[in-house]
Amino acid sequence: MNILDIIDKKVKKIELTQAEIEFLVNGYLDGSIPDYQMSSLLMAILLNGMTEKETVALTEVMLGSGDKISFDFNVVDKHSTGGVGDKTTLVLIPLVASLGTKVAKMSGRGLGHTGGTIDKLESIPGFKTEMTVDELKQEVLEIGAAIAGQTGNLCPADKKIYALRDVTGTVASIPLIASSIMSKKLASGANNIVIDLKVGEGALMTNIEDARALANLMIKIGKAFGKKVITVLTNMNEPLGYAVGNALEVEEAINTLNGQGPKDLEELVINLAALMISLDQNIPMEILIENVETALKNGNALEKFKEIVNYQGGNIDNIVTAQNIIPVKAPKSGYVKSISALKIGELARRLGAGRLAKGDEIDHTVGIVLTKKVGDEVTEGEVIAKIYSNKTLIPEKDVSECFEITDLKVNKSQLIYEIIK
Ligand code: URA
Repeated sequence: MNILDIIDKKVKKIELTQAEIEFLVNGYLDGSIPDYQMSSLLMAILLNGMTEKETVALTEVMLGSGDKISFDFNVVDKHSTGGVGDKTTLVLIPLVASLGTKVAKMSGRGLGHTGGTIDKLESIPGFKTEMTVDELKQEVLEIGAAIAGQTGNLCPADKKIYALRDVTGTVASIPLIASSIMSKKLASGANNIVIDLKVGEGALMTNIEDARALANLMIKIGKAFGKKVITVLTNMNEPLGYAVGNALEVEEAINTLNGQGPKDLEELVINLAALMISLDQNIPMEILIENVETALKNGNALEKFKEIVNYQGGNIDNIVTAQNIIPVKAPKSGYVKSISALKIGELARRLGAGRLAKGDEIDHTVGIVLTKKVGDEVTEGEVIAKIYSNKTLIPEKDVSECFEITDLKVNKSQLIYEIIK
């Protein structure tokens, strides 16, 4: 077997065999296949796609490249394909756990203009996100939930291939994304998986057709491995909630756990929580909505969040946000038609909330807090956002240009497009 023949097959759109995919992935992992040949193959995949059979085989090989976690009890997992202002995990995990469903959540750091849960959690002083697999299991067993960074040596093949895709323009391939996400989800041992698939300008999937194709592919991969996968297609054209930036998002998550969150974030966590619990406890989702809403209002979910934070060494009383707060004013009166999630994410990153280069230190205290959302009425000169900054400043105009304001009344954006099972 040789790599040039495999590249040639992919160029000619001939299906690769399981053995060829194994040869390829293992060869890349052990260094016998160099970056330039792997890049060439990835580009051929991006352009010519992969069959379902090839995608399942790729998932299986990447899954087999490292450790697999298993639990002695049922756990549910949730994954987001990434967005701006996406603090869903911080609210959802304690909410679900407060209603008796166990969750072991492994999260990542920010990527590009999108934020990452681990960076957000590290804005809580003392919060420990690195733990061993045994520590993770123990926490889930004792308090019903844990949120950690990547634990153990899960899917090293995906890690190496993903890093190459990131710098060779080959991220945006549906089979490559599906196998990358699913190999990690399968390795982390959950029985049931709910995927929040973001769609829109600020997301990996920019249109609904591609999002549906990705959703269906992940469901099929799950089925091939005996796991139930449900995908929820959600809007990522405007940021989720108001806050964008690590500590600012943690504060917003705590407010949401206190029953005072933004409407869109609340709607999302309530639906995702009901889905996760329904999968775990085999109860129709509709029946669970009321219980979930109650747990968010009566303080139970907030108590569970505090329990997780305390268990992992953090203290929510000491969260710090930047003191330099610059208001951004509406350039004209009208209605907010759109708020570019992509641009707001990029501006927050420039302020220091995200990394511009691998390994950059981030500033947990900075970010942007919107005070208006799509559909809101504004008057000229009214504050539409606030910039929280430290060392790096950005012009207010850059933020106000993320808002499109029109004369005509605008409806609120639809948040949940569809659920695909
Ligand atoms: N997230 C992943 O884990 N992998 C991808 O390929 C894209 C997003």
